[in-house]
Amino acid sequence: MRKAERAKEQLKKYSHLFSCPVCGSDMTMVEGKSLVCGNRHNFDLAKSGYINLLQRPVKTQYDRELLAARKLVANSGFFTPLLSVVSALLRERIGQITQSPMAILDAGCGEGSHLSVLITRLRREMEISPIGVGVDLAREGIQMAVKNDPDLIWCVADLAKLPLKNGRFGVVLNILSPANYGEFSRVLNAEGVLLKVVPGKKYLTELRTVFFADNDQKTYSNERVIRHFAKHFQLVAQQKVFSRFSVEEEMLRPLLKMTPLSWHVPKEKMEQVFRKGLKEVTVEFEVLVGQKT
Ligand SMILES: C[S@@+](CC[C@H](N)C(=O)[O-])C[C@H]1O[C@@H](n2cnc3c(N)ncnc32)[C@H](O)[C@@H]1O
Repeated sequence: MRKAERAKEQLKKYSHLFSCPVCGSDMTMVEGKSLVCGNRHNFDLAKSGYINLLQRPVKTQYDRELLAARKLVANSGFFTPLLSVVSALLRERIGQITQSPMAILDAGCGEGSHLSVLITRLRREMEISPIGVGVDLAREGIQMAVKNDPDLIWCVADLAKLPLKNGRFGVVLNILSPANYGEFSRVLNAEGVLLKVVPGKKYLTELRTVFFADNDQKTYSNERVIRHFAKHFQLVAQQKVFSRFSVEEEMLRPLLKMTPLSWHVPKEKMEQVFRKGLKEVTVEFEVLVGQKT
């Protein structure tokens, strides 16, 4: 079966997970090409097999170039230590979830490779076949995701107003993306877990040192984000992930491009990094595991 057909089949099979982004009612797949609700709000599937459930397009700074750079960096192993920890935490928690098949949502999935890697690992290591749903505002990211892995469900949507039904997900992943704890809690079932990844204190500190030598962005603390998480979810586990990433010459440009840290950095400072080169960067994350209170 062609990739696009496979992606459409997945959406059709699991259309019961969706609710209308306009009125909240149930959605059904009509003629294999649109999701339609009882009030006739209609959303067409793209030819490549994803669905756009935004009411109007949203302009985001996460453009094709940034997301392609992120994918290159991901493919070169930058996130591998993180994904090993996330998948071990998932294996531990999933044993306690009885939903079958379990649905996993990645809220703010970007170009989709994390969800793809994690589900592949779960299939291999636990012999389970969860349903994977990736949601992002950036259409370019979702287009890359569906091309790469048409066995999962990919949609352009706002994580602050998820077009998904209450209590249908066993896991919500939220990796280096903004959170909406009200929405995450709503779509999780009673035993469901939220895994959020935030940057650690030293994440890309080498870039911060050059970019922000003369302002307080030079240092970073995730304490406020963690406190906010713990106000909305019961923090049941917390794990730091620390590694060093060797920056091959051809990976420097994608590395600088993929991080929002470089968004407002003057050209001269970027040039400075290219001139001097960068041998290694620190990759520190913190994984937070939460349950509904
Ligand atoms: C730093 S990227 C992380 C992407 C991916 N999780 C990763 O680790 O590579 C942040 C992502 O959050 C997405 N995003 C930001 N606000 C969003 C919203 N309200 N709804 C859905 N996605 C959002 C952006 O489009 C972007 O893809």
